[in-house]
Amino acid sequence: MKIVFSLLFFVLQAAIAQSQEHVATADRAMVATVHPLATDAALKSLSDGGNAVDAALTAAITLGVVDGYNSGIGGGCFILIRTPDGKLITVDGRETAPKQATAEMFYSDGKPDTALSQVGALASGTPGAVAAYHMAWKKAGSLPWETHFQEAIHIAENGFAISDRYARLLASRKQLFEQFAASEALFIRDGKTLAAGERFVQEELASTLKGIAQEGPEYFYRGKVAALIADWMDANGGVMTRRDLATYQAKLRSPVVSTYRGHTIVGFPPPSSGGTHVGQILNMMEEFPLSEYYRDSTTKYTHVVAEAMKLAFADRAYWLGDADFTRVPQGLIAKSYARDLSRRIDLDAAITVKSHGLPPRKFPARSERHTTHIAVADSEGYWVAMTATINTSFGSKVVIPGTGIIMNNEMDDFALAPGIANAFGLLGSEANKVEALKRPLSSMSPTIVLKDGQPMLTVGAAGGPKIITSVVLGISRIVDLEMSPREAIEEPRFHHQWSPDRLYLERTNEPELLNRMKQLGHTVYSTSSAGISQMIYRDPESGRFMGVSDPRTAGKASGR
Ligand code: GLY
Repeated sequence: MKIVFSLLFFVLQAAIAQSQEHVATADRAMVATVHPLATDAALKSLSDGGNAVDAALTAAITLGVVDGYNSGIGGGCFILIRTPDGKLITVDGRETAPKQATAEMFYSDGKPDTALSQVGALASGTPGAVAAYHMAWKKAGSLPWETHFQEAIHIAENGFAISDRYARLLASRKQLFEQFAASEALFIRDGKTLAAGERFVQEELASTLKGIAQEGPEYFYRGKVAALIADWMDANGGVMTRRDLATYQAKLRSPVVSTYRGHTIVGFPPPSSGGTHVGQILNMMEEFPLSEYYRDSTTKYTHVVAEAMKLAFADRAYWLGDADFTRVPQGLIAKSYARDLSRRIDLDAAITVKSHGLPPRKFPARSERHTTHIAVADSEGYWVAMTATINTSFGSKVVIPGTGIIMNNEMDDFALAPGIANAFGLLGSEANKVEALKRPLSSMSPTIVLKDGQPMLTVGAAGGPKIITSVVLGISRIVDLEMSPREAIEEPRFHHQWSPDRLYLERTNEPELLNRMKQLGHTVYSTSSAGISQMIYRDPESGRFMGVSDPRTAGKASGR
């Protein structure tokens, strides 16, 4: 009996310790990521004298080692930075379609085939992560370049214990890894994928990271790594060449800035759809007294917000693409357009949205689980929201021999053909068709919220289209519902993306809500998770930071 009790106590303590890792408060700086080792590496960077940008880059590089199924140097990222003097830096490190890429290369037997855009040599866009890290570092980092790699190299060389989740994801993709020699060699031992608790050493990745640390991005884009990637692609039916890698460029963009009930919302522009649709959904929500609705019942709040999500995602499918190739109307975030759309929302019944809306045709000047989100802020005044990805878990499932790099499958974020959904069930139009050197549309939404000109909140998420809706809910729960950051992240979420016409409710929602939403005419689906979100909030009175890492995964928020 005593042994059982002690065991129970131990299990309970472990559970509490784990759940407490998800929230933290601190005065000087805060970090929130999906992996404790990445959060710890970022904290070390801060205690070594780095700022929030150094810490975010350190976290990103470390996540590529300990959480490589979500993000890494074989993928891309968006980095949104606010500097102490109020400058916004928007670094686009999205992957790019290789020069020889065509829509036809994803057809087999005359039909679009998402197997080709999801697995293998054609699935990868030219990776942008390393170029983006370097650009962010040059713009706002303060520690020497190589220091950001130290922890990641140490962990890659010495190994770390595989988590239950990592082991499960590996096991379920075993047959795919067996198609690629270096993937098989990395993840499979004696016929089995690595088990939970097993130590995972990545010598080749350590050596690649050392090269980039010592020689800079050249080592990746023009040196040994570029040669190994291009040779493998050439031998395996891919189209990515040394030239694609040598000419890749991270781009500085202008952020999408909108407002919500007296707050300024700074979001990421195309090729992300995040900033545009977070802004658009919030604009529609602003037309309704949501805090009042929520006080009455969660049903009314959930219904209105879900309808706003549905209307915005219909626009996403038609209007959004890489703004260097297609004209994305700025009018999507016009308040007048949101007012028109919001008039379509019926408080008593779910509406049918047949197609996209017609925003004011104002175009900007030309060009100006899976996935992970990193939030960092410091008292000097640097705030960083960074979302990084190799797309779906383990990307294209290809590990490039000699590098340890897991390649992305971001080509699947293009619309292969009308009516053909990608891995997230998303449809797209001409605006997001495959074109040489174009960037596939993303939902990644690194966001910074300002109040009276001062940063108050940063939030972002993983989860494909659920990123956009997680960010909207995070902001609304703070601004409309006056929840604490912890509640804003922990509360059950919901999601609507227009097509398929389903309202996804996390299973932890009240069963009663599910019934009431059905009565309003929604087609309701239960889901285990609607996004993995990290948030940092700064209390305007005390100046204290509160950080939350989403308890839906085993991450960590911590500060100093
Ligand atoms: N790869 C998912 C996204 O960028 O939205």
